[in-house]
Amino acid sequence: MSLIGVFDSGVGGLSILDEALRQLPQHDYIYLADSANAPYGEKSGAWIAERSLILCKYLADAGCDAIVLACNTATAEAIKQIREQLQIPVIGVEPGIKPAAMQSQNGVVGVLATEATLKSDKFNALLATLPNDCRFIKQAGAGLVPLIEAGKADSEEALDLLAKHLEPILEAGSDTLVLGCTHYPFLRTAIRKLLGDSITLIDTSDAVVRQLKRQLELLASDDKLTIQDHGSVNFVSSKDDAVLLQMAQNLMHSNLEMHAVKSQMLGNIK
Ligand code: DGL
Repeated sequence: MSLIGVFDSGVGGLSILDEALRQLPQHDYIYLADSANAPYGEKSGAWIAERSLILCKYLADAGCDAIVLACNTATAEAIKQIREQLQIPVIGVEPGIKPAAMQSQNGVVGVLATEATLKSDKFNALLATLPNDCRFIKQAGAGLVPLIEAGKADSEEALDLLAKHLEPILEAGSDTLVLGCTHYPFLRTAIRKLLGDSITLIDTSDAVVRQLKRQLELLASDDKLTIQDHGSVNFVSSKDDAVLLQMAQNLMHSNLEMHAVKSQMLGNIK
């Protein structure tokens, strides 16, 4: 089996880890949450790139065979530099605007993502590759990540803020909504409460984990083929590892009891 690093600004990447444990439970994981610095989405591109690189180097130094950059914002601002500096596969996450354009019946698609992702060159380059018969209504989800980090994804406060952010998307008649931040799948219940089943939700965690699986197959060597049903998960936080572990238990569907789980604080890093 392999050791896989999963990195996000906070608890958002747990939506990717959840899918990874479903498809690839036999591997060992380090989940790294930089919750002391979340949200990343309203910080400068240079700051996001520098911090993400430092934390991915930490994961590589810890012996990870591959890293999932489980953060759309960090992928947009930092994946190029990280891939240049590290010798292991780095899998990123991007808003699923392509599958959304294919699934939309009326060609109007809402994209809810962080301000940094929506402003990034990487996102706008991806947008430019799509045929212009689809209209994208871009909305920055300011304030949503701190609520999710505080365990308030299903609160009245989150519902009110979400309703405000979804207004322009709904007014334009969108039939499809891209969840362009890994924190937002945890708002599914709130979104369904507000919109019912009237809109198709697109999140790319399944595709990201399939990509991880392909990369691991390329890496597979005899010594990595040890048969093991369920590997370990180490939750590392820059803010409070006990809270991170508690949130993982609350937010994820995976049965963590099947895995050897531990948590630790992120120590001093270079
Ligand atoms: N979860 C992250 C993303 O996918 C970033 C959220 C944030 O820290 O602003 O974009």
